[in-house]
Amino acid sequence: MKNIKKGELITTGKAKSLYETNEDDFLIMHYRDDTSAFDGKKIESLEGKGTINNKFNAFIMEYLESESISTHFVELLNETDSLVKRLDMAPVECVVRNVAAGSICKRLGLEEGIDINPPTFEFFYKDDALGDPMINEYHIKSFGWATEEQVKQMQIQTFEVNNALKKLFSDAGMILVDYKLEFGDYKGKLLLGDEFTPDGCRVWDEETREKLDKDRFRQGLGDVVESYQIMAKRLGVI
Ligand code: TMP
Repeated sequence: MKNIKKGELITTGKAKSLYETNEDDFLIMHYRDDTSAFDGKKIESLEGKGTINNKFNAFIMEYLESESISTHFVELLNETDSLVKRLDMAPVECVVRNVAAGSICKRLGLEEGIDINPPTFEFFYKDDALGDPMINEYHIKSFGWATEEQVKQMQIQTFEVNNALKKLFSDAGMILVDYKLEFGDYKGKLLLGDEFTPDGCRVWDEETREKLDKDRFRQGLGDVVESYQIMAKRLGVI
């Protein structure tokens, strides 16, 4: 888009900031180097993370669009900024899991690394103070966080993303373990919003099962940005 100008800061999240533009329907999403885990209890700035995540997200969103999944992404503006459509976000997180890791292991006493077949789906309520509690679709409807139709669409589209991305990662020698998506309304249509980056998914090397995602930061494994770059290179992002 021509002549887009960055306006006022609207919100500052844990890793991104959102700005108004001179067009009502569009916002600028700015990817920062800040890296957070455990609902913001662990925060560090990792040089180059904003740039790699901005490019990674653009690549995935464009790929999903090519697979007929509608997203808020419009275009890359520079190293750390992307232009997106302004969505009215549902305050819920949609998680699909292909392999057991993270909170489901604790919750259900599962061994990390076992296959989940068929892949499973979970909703979480987006509230750091409450620790993003797991919720079900009745909570979403009862508390007005989304409509019945939006709940259905979030589930359908999150699984469509799984079909598209499982293959993309496996063709590049990686396992898509799990990921989190967020959706919002744009003029009556539900679109994939927020981001798809190594901050919000788990991805392992297919051969060695080495972790390449934000678990490196959560678990203090080191080489966080370097691993994100390895993932990006294998997919052809950079
Ligand atoms: P979990 O195992 O901690 O429930 O996370 C599942 C996936 O969702 C994992 O890839 C990390 C991602 N996620 C986020 O990116 N942000 C969040 O707030 C939560 C709860 C999960």
